[in-house]
Amino acid sequence: MTDPREGAAQPILKLRGVSKQFGAVQALKDIELDVHAGEVVALVGDNGAGKSTLVKVLAGVHQPTDGAIEFMGQPVTLDSPGKALELGIATVFQDLALCENLDVVANLFLGHELGPWALDEVQMEVRAWTLLQELAARIPSVREPVASLSGGQRQTVAIARSLLLDPKVIMLDEPTAALGVAQTAEVLNLIERVRDRGHGVILISHNMEDVRAVADRIVVLRLGQNNGVFTAETSNAELVAAITGATENAVSRRRARKLEEVEQ
Ligand SMILES: Nc1ncnc2c1ncn2[C@@H]1O[C@H](COP(=O)(O)OP(=O)(O)OP(=O)(O)O)[C@@H](O)[C@H]1O
Ligand SMILES: [Mg+2]
Repeated sequence: MTDPREGAAQPILKLRGVSKQFGAVQALKDIELDVHAGEVVALVGDNGAGKSTLVKVLAGVHQPTDGAIEFMGQPVTLDSPGKALELGIATVFQDLALCENLDVVANLFLGHELGPWALDEVQMEVRAWTLLQELAARIPSVREPVASLSGGQRQTVAIARSLLLDPKVIMLDEPTAALGVAQTAEVLNLIERVRDRGHGVILISHNMEDVRAVADRIVVLRLGQNNGVFTAETSNAELVAAITGATENAVSRRRARKLEEVEQ
């Protein structure tokens, strides 16, 4: 449960005592989280653990009811999505928010088209290609409408778009949830390349295999609270126990069931 990054460089993002209340519902309580440059922090937890709420707090969608957020060593207030983006905290929400009928270039630059008066199509296309190539993304053509891309390619476009403003931290909400095996591998490779470019990555996932494959640290939330920080080497039993808070339930029940099967 020790933080292997302890003593390492100052985190880009540092949360202390962050709480969020929705009326009577305490969605987050006293959350502590550090994200460093060039690391993937996986955020895991059961349904309702508070993962999306935490992402929305960091994306400037929700205001915390309590606690402090530091960005690059400075206390910050993330009071709007624009503010979070401006600081350098980008989010790829689960629904991706791509425009099906527009091509890859148009989607990449949606909302921040280059050129002060007119769109410079050539410049945008060159920039789009360069970025996708840097990410070694497998997109057949940047003039292809998004509607004709696979799930993995769409995820790639959404991630590339969030990188255009060169954020310090990028948050990915369930990027592999709807993907097949090969596409999942592509997206995991992409996450590693994003990390290797020096961005801090917050990865939300229900898939422990994906989490283990790319996470430098695994932060467990349970019932809106921190419930341990682990590494990819942590056993499944230990992770499941931290997530469910029920070592003596889910895990031991399963073991007991197996023992019963053996005895029969
Ligand atoms: N806008 C809201 N208003 C009221 N309650 C909310 C709101 N958003 C979240 N909650 C509550 O906060 C708690 C945490 O929800 P959250 O969506 O953050 O969980 P999660 O970890 O993302 O779960 P899942 O894995 O199902 O996506 C839940 O009890 C949820 O009902
Ligand atoms: Mg959620």
